[in-house]
Amino acid sequence: MNEYDSSRMLDLMQDAYGMKLVANPEDADVILMNTCSIREKAEDKVYSELGRYRKLKEKRPDMIIGVGGCVGQQEGKRIQQRAPYVDAVFGPQSYHKLPEMINKIRRERVNVTATEMPEIEKFDHLPAPKGNGMSGFVTIMEGCDKFCTFCVVPYTRGSELSRPVEDVLEECRKLLATGITEISLLGQNVNAYRGLAADEDEWDFTMLLYAVAKLEGLERLRFSTSHPMEVTEEMAAAFGDLPVLMPYLHLPVQSGSDVILKAMHRGHARDDYFPLIESLRKHCPDIALSSDFIVGYPGETDEDFEQTLDLVRRVNYDFSYCFKYSPRPGTPAAQSEDNIPEEVKDERLQRLLALTRLQTREAMNKQIGRVVNVLVEKESKTDGEMQGRTADYRIVHFEGQPRQIGQTMPVRITKAYGQSLRGELILA
Ligand code: 5AD
Ligand code: SF4
Repeated sequence: MNEYDSSRMLDLMQDAYGMKLVANPEDADVILMNTCSIREKAEDKVYSELGRYRKLKEKRPDMIIGVGGCVGQQEGKRIQQRAPYVDAVFGPQSYHKLPEMINKIRRERVNVTATEMPEIEKFDHLPAPKGNGMSGFVTIMEGCDKFCTFCVVPYTRGSELSRPVEDVLEECRKLLATGITEISLLGQNVNAYRGLAADEDEWDFTMLLYAVAKLEGLERLRFSTSHPMEVTEEMAAAFGDLPVLMPYLHLPVQSGSDVILKAMHRGHARDDYFPLIESLRKHCPDIALSSDFIVGYPGETDEDFEQTLDLVRRVNYDFSYCFKYSPRPGTPAAQSEDNIPEEVKDERLQRLLALTRLQTREAMNKQIGRVVNVLVEKESKTDGEMQGRTADYRIVHFEGQPRQIGQTMPVRITKAYGQSLRGELILA
C-alpha cells in the first residue's frame, strides 16, 4: 500500500507542478519520505535518513523536505520539533493535500502538518492513476477495525472505510485504458470490503471481484491482504470460477497456538484456519498460499511455538514472511512486558525460517519442467535477462528483450532457486 501511496504522490506532483522523479536526492527540489511503522524501530530509521537530507538542504535551502506515511501520522509535530528542517509532515490519509501544503511552504516559509483522518475524501482529490506499463494497484478499502493487539495499523490508517463500487471500477477502467493488464486490489483487509453500489446496495468483496474480473483488457487480477475471519465460501469459489483471478493468496495467520491467537485478538482459533485452506485448495488445486508469522509474542511458550511449526507443516506454504515480535507504541500488546528474551526470539525465528524456506524451495523445485505464463516486468540485474512473474506470483528470470516488458510470455522452467526460478522463453 505504501508503494501505491508513493506512486499516487508522484502522480499528484506531476499534475500539480510538472515535477519528475529524479534518481538522486541531491537533484531534487522536493524530497518526500513515505514511511512505514509496522515493525521495528521505524522512527529511528526515519531520523537517520533525515540526517542525510539535512546536509543536502544546508547546501540548497530552497529544498522542501516532507515526511509522510504512518510515522508521519504517529509522530506528527514531534518530527519537526526534532528535525526543524522538515517542512511538511503528513499521514497516509492526508497526502492529497500535498500541493496545498507545498504552496503554503513556498509562500510563507512555514512548517506544515496534516495528520487528521478525514473520511475517504482523499481519493476524490487524486489525479487519474498513470500506470507503469504492465500492472497497477487500486486501493479498495483502507484502515482496519480488527485491532490485533500487536498492530499499529488501526491507529495509523484509521478505521475500515471502503470506496464506493463505481469509484473502484472507474479507477480500474482508467488503469486498463493506459494499457496495463494486471490489477492488484489493495486494502489492509480487502475481504472486509463493504462498498456502496450506485443503487445504494452494499457490495461485499466477492461481488466486487466478479465485477472487476469482467472489465475489458484485464488479464490478471490479484488482491492483498485478506483476513482469515472474512474468507467466505464464495470468495474461495471465485478462485476456481474466475480465470483472471490469479491462483495466489496471502492469508496471514500469525501463530498456530490457540492461546497466542486469543491473546493477539485475532478473532479465530487454530482449527478455524485449516478448513479455509481446504476450501481454497478444493476450488483451486494449484493455488499458492502464503502467510505472515510473529514469533516471540509476549508469553509465547515453547509449546505455543511448536504449535506454530505444526500449523506450518500441516498447511505447507509456498511463501512465508516471519517476524520477531517488537512492541509498537500505542498498541495494547505494548502494555504487556516484551518478556521473550532476544535469544529465544532469534532461535525461534531461525527454526521457523529453516522450515518455511524448505517449503518454499520444495514448491519451487516442483515448477521445474513446467511451461508457465510470465508477465514480463523489468530487466533483471544480470545483462540480457528479463524478469517477470508467474500466475502464482513466482519470480522468473530468462533471457529476453526489454521490448517484452508488459507482455505475457510462455516460459519453460529449467531451474529453481530458493526464492526464484530460471526458464527459457518458448518462441512460437
Ligand atoms: N511485531 C512483529 N511483527 C508485526 N507485524 C505487525 N505488527 C508487528 C509487530 N508489532 C507483522 C504481522 C503482519 C505483518 C504485516 O507484519 O505479521 O501480518
Ligand atoms: Fe493489523 Fe490485525 Fe488489522 Fe492486520 S487485521 S492490519 S494485523 S490489526
